[in-house]
This record gives sequence, C-alpha cells and structure tokens, in this order.
Amino acid sequence: MGRHPDIWLFVTVVILSTIFVRCASFPDPLPVEGDFFFVHDPSLVQRQSDGKYFLFTTHDKGGIITADNLAGPWTVVGSILPNNSSIQLAGRDDIWAPDVSLHGDTYYAYYAVSTFGSQDSAIGLATSASMDPGTWTDHGQVFGSTTGDLYNAIDPNLSIDESGRPVLTFGSFWDDLFQVNLADDLRTVINTPEHVSFNSTPPQPEEGAFLWKHDDFYYLFFSSGTCCGFNASALPAPGDEYKVFVGRSESAHGPFLDANGVDLRSSGGTLVLASHGNIYAPGGQGIFIDQSAGSEREVFVYHYVPVDSPDPYSDTYASLGLNGIEWSSGWPALTQL
Ligand SMILES: *[C@@H]1O[C@H](CO)[C@@H](O)[C@H](O)[C@H]1NC(C)=O
Ligand SMILES: *[C@@H]1O[C@H](CO)[C@@H](O)[C@H](O)[C@H]1NC(C)=O
Ligand SMILES: *[C@@H]1O[C@H](CO)[C@@H](O)[C@H](O)[C@H]1NC(C)=O
Ligand SMILES: *[C@@H]1O[C@H](CO)[C@@H](O)[C@H](O)[C@H]1NC(C)=O
Repeated sequence: MGRHPDIWLFVTVVILSTIFVRCASFPDPLPVEGDFFFVHDPSLVQRQSDGKYFLFTTHDKGGIITADNLAGPWTVVGSILPNNSSIQLAGRDDIWAPDVSLHGDTYYAYYAVSTFGSQDSAIGLATSASMDPGTWTDHGQVFGSTTGDLYNAIDPNLSIDESGRPVLTFGSFWDDLFQVNLADDLRTVINTPEHVSFNSTPPQPEEGAFLWKHDDFYYLFFSSGTCCGFNASALPAPGDEYKVFVGRSESAHGPFLDANGVDLRSSGGTLVLASHGNIYAPGGQGIFIDQSAGSEREVFVYHYVPVDSPDPYSDTYASLGLNGIEWSSGWPALTQL
C-alpha cells in the first residue's frame, strides 16, 4: 500500500468518471405515432377525471394537444388563450412555456408573455376546471419584469415547498434563474426575487426551470445553451446548443448543488440530457406522474429538434420527447419508456 492511497483512489475515480462522461449515452425517446405536431417547452398533465393526456406548448396561444395514450396519436385541439392574454405587453398573442398543474379541483396554467431578447415580460395565470379549450379564464399578470431588472419574468414553474407554501421558479438569460414566494391564492407575489442559479460563462444562459421533489430532495432542472433558430449550415459549436442540467437541495428554496457539490449559483449543474443521434438541442423539460395502467411512474418530458426532418435542425419541427427516470444514484438518469 502506498503512502497516499486516497490519491490513487481519487485518480482512479477521475479516470473512470472521465471515461463515463465521454461515453455518456442517452436513451431514445418513446416513438410517437400519428401526424407531426409542434411542441416547445412542453407541460404534460393527465386529467384526473378520465386519465386523458393534455400537452401544452409555447406558441399557438398556449397550444393544447391531447391523447389517450402517451405514444399518441396526439391531436391539436385548441389554445389556452385564443383571444390573447389580457397582459398589455408585446407578445400577448404569443404565449410561451405554459406550466399547468392541479391545485384543489382547479388546473392552474402559468404562462409567459414576452418577445425574443426582451425583458419587458410577464408571468400570467389562467385557470380551468377541465383543461379543455374554451374553458380557461385569464387572470392576467402575476409577476413582471422590465428592462434593467436582474431577471426576466418568463418560463414559470409553480411548486409547493416543504412547509406547504407555493413558490414560483422562473427566469432566463440575464442573470438566469430566480424564485418568488406566492400567497395561498397562488397569484400574489409576497417577496422580492431570490437567485437560485447563475452560470457566468457565456454562451450558457439558463432557462426553463423546473422543480421536482423526489424522496428527500428538491431537484432543480434547467435548460442551458442556444434553444432555437438553428440553421443546418451554421450550427452553434457542438455543446453550445440546448441541453438539460440539474442540481438538488433539501429545501425547495435551495441552495441547489450539483453532483460535485458546486452551487448552481456558481455555474454548477450536472448533465441530464444532451444532443444524441436524431435528438438535437433537447430542453424545456418537465416531469409528470403517469397514472395509466394502475401504476404511477415518473415520465421526463422535453422537446427536441429532430436532425432527420423535412428541414434538418429547424425548430419548426420541434418534437415531443418522453423518457423514464431512474434515481438509484440519488441523481436522475433517463431510461427507455
Ligand atoms: C390578438 O393579438 C393580435 C396581434 O396583436 C391581434 O391581431 C388580434 O386581433 C388579437 N385577437 C383578439 C381576439 O384580440
Ligand atoms: C373570444 O372572444 C370571442 C368574441 O368576443 C368570444 O365569443 C369567445 O367566447 C372568446 N373565447 C374565449 C375562450 O374566451
Ligand atoms: C444559414 O447560414 C448560412 C451560412 O451562414 C447563410 O448563408 C444562410 O443564409 C442561412 N440561412 C438562413 C435561412 O438563415
Ligand atoms: C412544475 O412543477 C410542478 C411540481 O413540482 C409540476 O407538478 C408541474 O407539472 C411543473 N410544470 C411543468 C411544466 O412540468
């Protein structure tokens, strides 16, 4: 035995983990049947009354797409806000990143109104008893940002913290991800935004925050890199396109650390999913509990840009990605569904 066995153990671990990272492969998403449908920043919810799947997307005024099976076929049925948001900002006719969840017997859809590259943004709220098109009531703005703020009020995700209090995680670009606490009405902001994640190294803006409780931890997932607007003849440098990272904390309010113990506010983040095979720039992720067939399983939901499409790498063809999740290491690893 040498004098520094810990060093050799450390070196072995570093070599093995380097090999692992280099060989990191990701499972393909569940094949989806039927005609193509556009999906970006998906939120997937199963209706309590009949088990029907409701998928919500950016654009299409908060597009609603439904199916009886996860594998499809999926049908585009309408919009959350066909008459635009009541929020008086540019982008009120182009709803982004709806985040839908059930509280009591009401479905809450937090959404964002903004335009690309602008901080004049707001998070709004609409509610419905059934999620069907034509049943959504718009409640307007919950929280807004303007040019010069540290944050951008987009990409909301509502969670309930360890004390049963609602917390809204949001943000993108500028200084990345923040949280605000809400009152029990789920629409009144009661504190100033707190920073939960920041990567100072360009070009890695973070957005699409999603907070998920599993066993003893709250896992904060986010997307980082170039999300959209790809041109097959001028792609970003490999690795600069969208991908999904995670950090975790015992509190819904953080601090969130990655698997190496680095705080997400200090550029931390453990990779969950990146481009592979036909899957390019995956992101806009979330998790939902699928209750079909009498079982409960967590399903990882995201969008990706297919390499193989009528217009390769064009996000006009952004598609739905569905995978299982396995947590035995304490960190999420995607599996085949
Ligand atoms: C929605 O917004 C668009 C763009 O501003 C406008 O042309 C359209 O008339 C609006 N629709 C309704 C129902 O107000
Ligand atoms: C949209 O506006 C039209 C005309 O005012 C109205 O008939 C319709 O009910 C509205 N739709 C929704 C979902 O509010
Ligand atoms: C794609 O990039 C190439 C090379 O920079 C450029 O010539 C072309 O106009 C771009 N196409 C689109 C649709 O932006
Ligand atoms: C936001 O988080 C909650 C709980 O953590 C979840 O139920 C909801 O579906 C999430 N939103 C999206 C877009 O998945």
